[in-house]
Amino acid sequence: MTKRDYLTVDALSVEELAKVLDLADELKVNRQRSTDGTGRHRPSTGGHGSDLQGLSIGMIFEKPSTRTRVSFEVGISELGAKAVVLSAGELQLGRGETVEDTARVLSGYLHALVVRTFAQSRLETLASAGSIPVINALSDFSHPCQALADLQTIREHKGDLHELKLSYLGDGNNVAHSLLEAGAMAGMHVAVGTPAGYEPDPQVVRQATDVAARTGGRITVTNDPLEAARDADAVYTDVWTSMGQESENHARTQVLGPFQVGASVMQAAKSDALVLHCLPAHRGEEITPEVMDGPNSVVFEQAANRLHSQKALLLFLLT
Ligand code: CP
Repeated sequence: MTKRDYLTVDALSVEELAKVLDLADELKVNRQRSTDGTGRHRPSTGGHGSDLQGLSIGMIFEKPSTRTRVSFEVGISELGAKAVVLSAGELQLGRGETVEDTARVLSGYLHALVVRTFAQSRLETLASAGSIPVINALSDFSHPCQALADLQTIREHKGDLHELKLSYLGDGNNVAHSLLEAGAMAGMHVAVGTPAGYEPDPQVVRQATDVAARTGGRITVTNDPLEAARDADAVYTDVWTSMGQESENHARTQVLGPFQVGASVMQAAKSDALVLHCLPAHRGEEITPEVMDGPNSVVFEQAANRLHSQKALLLFLLT
């Protein structure tokens, strides 16, 4: 069987993406059944508890992580597999061993590799040199695992995703790229609002526009935050300074200020618009505390869904 990698959302077909989301919902519902009718606590892993029995899954994190690292490690354990967690400093990669050689060596021990790194090309090299599935746990270019949890969360609250308007405000970064891909595949209207010079990669926008033309979705990119947010069903933001951009923090805060998700943005959106954030959040910068912790916010559900959607992805790729 040909191995499948997950380096960008469109590594899945439109139908496969829907299947993964359905499975994520199933895993979540099953895991939440934590009493057995007598009121006794019955911890549940969500089923499929031995589907990956005997497999070992490597996790390499070259950047910090709370959600991705913990949700993958717990998910791998709940599916019966073993997680082997490595930081870049623990590998010979940091001492000059090539990415290709590392991929070949690890393919001899492991059954899949979850990797958080800087360049997307590093993931592509790992995937092409090795013989095991490689999963992108965030690169500077994309965050496809995050997008799965995002769609799962919106679907839970709004039902069918087709023609819903998802507005992303802020920096046209890796999270924006994966949302553009995923939203287009799901037939959504993805509206991205960024300052001039902070727009998403034009090639990602072009590809998402082509996909949306086939799925009934729509892609718009604007430099006007209220235009992006108008009549949105869901409003999404991310930190203005991503990992590795710390020296630009002051300049970014100035330029991105008008794109803060606060009262005026939420007034432009529908009254029942969901509020999403991939986290970690900087309250008072990209989002006001009132919106972040307000009644429309689903950010912690969204974070929790990382577990279910990544378990579904692992089952899809490995069984
Ligand atoms: N959203 C996200 O990827 O969180 P972490 O950086 O904590 O993994």
